[in-house]
Amino acid sequence: MATVQMFFTIFFVVMLPAQGQLAPDFYDAVCPHALPTIRAVVEAAVALQPRLGAYLVRLHFHDCFVNGCDGSVLLDDSATFVGEKTAGPNNNSLRGFEVIDDIKAVVNAACFGNVVSCADILAVAARDSIVALGGSSYEVLLGRRDATTASKDDANADIPTPFSGLPDLLAKFQSHGLAVEDLVALSGAHTLGFARCALFRDRLYNETSTIDSDFATALQARCPRTGGDDELSPLDETSPAVFDAGYYRGLLQNKGLLHSDQQLFGGDGSGDTDALVQHYSENPGEFMADFGVAMIKMGSISPLTGSDGEIRENCRVANA
Ligand code: HEM
Ligand SMILES: *[C@@H]1O[C@H](CO)[C@@H](O)[C@H](O)[C@H]1NC(C)=O
Ligand SMILES: *[C@@H]1O[C@H](CO)[C@@H](O)[C@H](O)[C@H]1NC(C)=O
Repeated sequence: MATVQMFFTIFFVVMLPAQGQLAPDFYDAVCPHALPTIRAVVEAAVALQPRLGAYLVRLHFHDCFVNGCDGSVLLDDSATFVGEKTAGPNNNSLRGFEVIDDIKAVVNAACFGNVVSCADILAVAARDSIVALGGSSYEVLLGRRDATTASKDDANADIPTPFSGLPDLLAKFQSHGLAVEDLVALSGAHTLGFARCALFRDRLYNETSTIDSDFATALQARCPRTGGDDELSPLDETSPAVFDAGYYRGLLQNKGLLHSDQQLFGGDGSGDTDALVQHYSENPGEFMADFGVAMIKMGSISPLTGSDGEIRENCRVANA
């Protein structure tokens, strides 16, 4: 008896909370065109400007880390709350909101109604961006619903900063149910896109023991001690518009752009991350497979499901 009961207790505790009621076929009956429609808009956007794909991947991350994957990151400030868009990690940094607006409009037309949540659009757009830029595909779980509120304070508290050490980075990931392996795999998203000088300046001038000196010198020309705060550099120096293992190869050479990036190799933490970085640098296929698994895990952080939340008509505002 006790054993049977324990089996079911363990079964439900282990199986249920992680993924709620999310399922890959959630829209198959209600709107079979939903996913192909999202993909078409993402492919057009990425063909126009590859960095739009990087924006979309990052939006999903910043959504999921603040009170779960509930589309809260997309909400503009309102009369009742200050949203996440002006939080430190997001202000003048998060982009791609117009692409989400486009997707929402086209999907609502294709579905003859408002049935696909903004939170799900973020999850699918992230996956489609990765595939459009050369990464491996993975199955996105669906059925998230949208939050009706957002919190700037929570965004400031929950999103990791580029000045963090490995223990802090790991603590932030663990507090969201993610493990050290997920931290290393998900950080591989920095194979795409760019960062601003203000966020890596200290590394160029004050971290001489953990940065390649030629790399630092070259970057100093574009990122002086004062001024040029918004000058951009690629997070993966070799190929910022291709989803590959270049980010990890850079870390092996002490060419991580952000302090937080280099923490994963030769940083102030455990050797566990060093070994994984080395492994992914040599096995791009395994990186991509593990990245997909970790994205599914990240995409399952505290979703609103069932009758919780709503399907927002406009991703920027809660329904009236
Ligand atoms: C591990 C902790 C992380 C930290 C501290 C971090 C920090 C940052 C910072 C500071 C930037 C540059 C922002 C700017 O210059 O305005 C950035 C860019 C980016 N991040 Fe992260 N990030 C982390 C993890 C992730 C994860 C898990 C993903 C996605 C799965 C991600 C995706 C991206 C992408 C795609 C960009 C480039 C965006 C662009 O080109 O504008 N990051 N990140
Ligand atoms: C966000 O950035 C704008 C433009 O640089 C700035 O004026 C504003 O004060 C920033 N907001 C916050 C909350 O930091
Ligand atoms: C580097 O460290 C020094 C001493 O702590 C500090 O004054 C300076 O602002 C830091 N950053 C740069 C870019 O030099």
